[in-house]
Amino acid sequence: MSPNHPTKNTKYTKSAKKIWLEWTRSHGMEAAHTMTTITKPRGTTEDDITAEVLRRFDATAQPRLRDIMQSLVRHLHAFVKDVELTEGEWMTAIQFLTKTGHMCDDKRQEFILLSDTLGVSMVVDLINHRKPEGATESTVFGPFHRDGAPELPAGGNIAPRDKKGVPTIVSGRVLTLDGGPIAGAWLDVWQADSSGLYDSQYAGTDELHLRGRFRSDEDGRFLIRTVRPVYYAIPTDGPVGRMLSATNRHPWRPAHIHFVVSAEGCEPVTTHIFDDADPYLESDTVFAVKNSLMCTFVRHDSRDEDAARFGVEPPFCTARFDFVLKPALR
Ligand code: BEZ
Ligand code: FE
Repeated sequence: MSPNHPTKNTKYTKSAKKIWLEWTRSHGMEAAHTMTTITKPRGTTEDDITAEVLRRFDATAQPRLRDIMQSLVRHLHAFVKDVELTEGEWMTAIQFLTKTGHMCDDKRQEFILLSDTLGVSMVVDLINHRKPEGATESTVFGPFHRDGAPELPAGGNIAPRDKKGVPTIVSGRVLTLDGGPIAGAWLDVWQADSSGLYDSQYAGTDELHLRGRFRSDEDGRFLIRTVRPVYYAIPTDGPVGRMLSATNRHPWRPAHIHFVVSAEGCEPVTTHIFDDADPYLESDTVFAVKNSLMCTFVRHDSRDEDAARFGVEPPFCTARFDFVLKPALR
């Protein structure tokens, strides 16, 4: 810190003001703002501090940034006052957030997991993706999408190395709001394997598995071979896991398959289809279930010619789901 840096005991004599102006200029700050702030009388109550912090953001050049910062301060201060946060609790929160940051790398995003488990991701999703009646609803993106999934033909198998899972054929159509087919739509698909793990959760390999990109045909149809999804626990070996167990919450997500469906002239949708027989539909740890995304996985115990054409023998499952895209805003 500069030797001229003002402290809370600094008396603002005329020459000190000059020093202050020089200091603010040399630190690239707008002297006018900082001077008005510093020379105001000090508040003494909790509410005085809140008012003063809010005032310091008044001169923010971007109105949206000012609104966000002031609302953040208002809510954060109200929260601290509401629970009468102790200094120990404040330090625990700082340590929790520090550990959350340390847990993040190119494969693990603990902050997104925190946002997901606090329901923030779903609130953001709902605010940003209001859909007209009939359009496929969105849900959380989650931390496990990876770029570079292979482009596969209709009926291509995204789970060739998963020998334990129940073979499953997912088919359906990509449609416009009025029910017309969308040809050439992209379906980017990913899911956990039959052990409930994504490829990126296996140590020592970067290989992609249970991922693929499919295109709808001229009738809007798609067909994907995979394994039946299972319910799985989100990663619990970090601060989010400790938060869940300290609050007696379970880490389970109901069985689902992730999709990003996109087509020219349409708004893409990031969503899942959920197995409608899953025991965790009511208590998804990331709050992502929507009724419109339910899908029945039908079990077949006898041979079926159509399935056999894709190399699928009983027992196997079929699931059908149509995606409906709304037109893109121009
Ligand atoms: C997922 O479905 O992949 C997921 C979503 C949110 C948090 C963790 C996992
Ligand atoms: Fe998932």
